[in-house]
Amino acid sequence: MNLKTIYFLPFLVLLMASFISCSKQEVKWVDKAIDVAEVQLAKASKVYTPENNPRSIYPNGTVRLTHIRDWTCGFFPGSLWYMYELTNNESLKTEARRYTEALDSVQHFTYTHDLGFMLYCSYGNAYRITGDEAYKNVLLQGAESLASRFSPQVGCIRSWDFGEWQFPVIVDNMMNLEYLCTTSQISGDSKFQEMAVSHANKTMANHFREDYSSYHVVSYDTITGNPIHKGTHQGYADETAWARGQAWGVYGYTMMYRKTKDQRYLEMAEKIAAFIMNLKNMPSDKIPYWDYNAPNIPNAPRDASAAAVTASSLLELSTYVADGDKYFRYAEEVLKSLSSPAYLAEPGTNGFFILKHSVGALPNDSEVDTPINYADYYYLEALVRYKNMLNKK
Ligand code: GLY
Repeated sequence: MNLKTIYFLPFLVLLMASFISCSKQEVKWVDKAIDVAEVQLAKASKVYTPENNPRSIYPNGTVRLTHIRDWTCGFFPGSLWYMYELTNNESLKTEARRYTEALDSVQHFTYTHDLGFMLYCSYGNAYRITGDEAYKNVLLQGAESLASRFSPQVGCIRSWDFGEWQFPVIVDNMMNLEYLCTTSQISGDSKFQEMAVSHANKTMANHFREDYSSYHVVSYDTITGNPIHKGTHQGYADETAWARGQAWGVYGYTMMYRKTKDQRYLEMAEKIAAFIMNLKNMPSDKIPYWDYNAPNIPNAPRDASAAAVTASSLLELSTYVADGDKYFRYAEEVLKSLSSPAYLAEPGTNGFFILKHSVGALPNDSEVDTPINYADYYYLEALVRYKNMLNKK
């Protein structure tokens, strides 16, 4: 060893030590978040029941429970599956099965487009993790029910049966397409994926503005299939950018690229991501206001659910492009914020939800600044993705 090497050695050791401590720090916040989430979900699974799993918290502090016809009924079982994946805790797997199987009759519902949320988050994860054929059969029947809402004239799945719209399609409906594409893969019947592709193309054509922000609701003429009205239901105003809507969009097109490898979906996902990431009024912790054009910014409520959905999708998007590190880093910052005391619950509090501060439907004064089960679900999904990616780095 020459003199130069001997001088340089301590610096090298210091450099290596700082890398190790840096990656240990990464592990620290993730592991703490996982520990908290495990405590919360283990407790919640005992306190609540599979027929009425937890949805959010009312302003008076009592927990709002779901029932089987509620669009959010699949998120709690899905969270239990992700938690099992993160921890290998067998008792959580038992609870995941128990909470999933209570949703058995959802497969026959045709009054809602939310079967993706209700069945894919619950049974979809159950089948992915266990390979159990009984779960697959529920998924196949549920996809038939969802497909019954597809209109060949419009080329989309109808979202809602209520309201004045002739044929309403909400941007959230992009989240059902993963279920349809996966059903084609597991059944060999391409019709489900064809519907998904048609729906994604039509949404791409009609839901987005020039800056790639999106309308919430587009209503179509059932005979011509043309859009006849564009507006909002859960956002501040027709022309504003409702935060969760933008999150559903970037998630939906990233996922559709995974399922089809159609370059147009990847481009769309990147453009929506750019809209979100370049917003001038995004708070420094990157947890969005409930609507990016809310009138009382910076005092508008934040929406942790939009942040969690965005983080999860950006982690995936980061794996599809050469400069994907910018998406990974952004998602990591969001996850660090969500894992801080400002958003992550103290164990044993918060109705045993994991995250605080989401917004459901502010214009209806419903679920404003509350924990919400889908924020927890997408947060856990993002943690699963993040951990898997860290292990590969
Ligand atoms: N409809 C789903 C949502 O509120 O985002």
